[in-house]
Amino acid sequence: MPPEPKNSTLILPKTSRHIIGRTILHLDEVDSTNSLLLRDEALLRQDGFVIYADRQTSGRGRMNRAWSGGSHGNKHLFCSIVIHPRPFLSHIPSITIILGLAVYRALRPLGVRDHAIKWPNDILVSGRKLCGILCEAKGLDGMDVVVAGIGVNIEGGMAQFPPALRHKAATLEMATGNRIEREHLLDIILNNIDKILAEAEEGTAPLFREWEISADLEGKTVTCNHKGRLITGVARGIDESGGLLIDVDGAGSVKVISGEITLTDYR
Ligand code: BTN
Repeated sequence: MPPEPKNSTLILPKTSRHIIGRTILHLDEVDSTNSLLLRDEALLRQDGFVIYADRQTSGRGRMNRAWSGGSHGNKHLFCSIVIHPRPFLSHIPSITIILGLAVYRALRPLGVRDHAIKWPNDILVSGRKLCGILCEAKGLDGMDVVVAGIGVNIEGGMAQFPPALRHKAATLEMATGNRIEREHLLDIILNNIDKILAEAEEGTAPLFREWEISADLEGKTVTCNHKGRLITGVARGIDESGGLLIDVDGAGSVKVISGEITLTDYR
């Protein structure tokens, strides 16, 4: 049995948003904000429902990794959002791409510069990871409901991270020199996600182009795992399903839909 979440507070609906973050639940502690939503069908039925927690005892990252986001509670953002399917975003990788762009946009007014999206949706600052996004789907009432978990490192320096992450992680405080309030960051991220989903309804092509510019990936040499083997090639961009297109010598254009890339010549 997963542990019961501790001390929850329901935050009143924010009516300026259309769907995302109109209802927000705050928890002191939970195993993982993603896991909590994935096992609670009543919450999964609420498109745009958001939870965030001070601490996660079993935070999860992509590729079955753990997500600690620093060892101290209450200093970082651990949130998850329920997103119901939309006809204009039929592939889960495309939702992942759009969410990464929304978070990228949200960081600009906070003074973050020199940040880039790393496919599929990490946000790096000067090559160090500031934010990770984990999108997971669950079938419910005949639809695939996506739970999008977002972790952003907010406060402090490197000493709080495990040694293996100290040269790889960044915090908002390191990136901007400022202490940014967690609820303020959450508010800006939710506004941006709400807005970008409305934009996507009008057409996703401009958003995918903006993603490509924000990722600064085109023409870069990348290595990734494709169908069980490592391939290296030149990134050409993403297609409408969110897959990464790579030109590989001798194999032509290859589309990678999940996994992780290593960039040989990334800033
Ligand atoms: C990654 O880069 O590997 C994705 C990290 C996602 C972390 C967030 S924190 C909130 C939500 N709950 C989880 O257990 N994981 C996501």
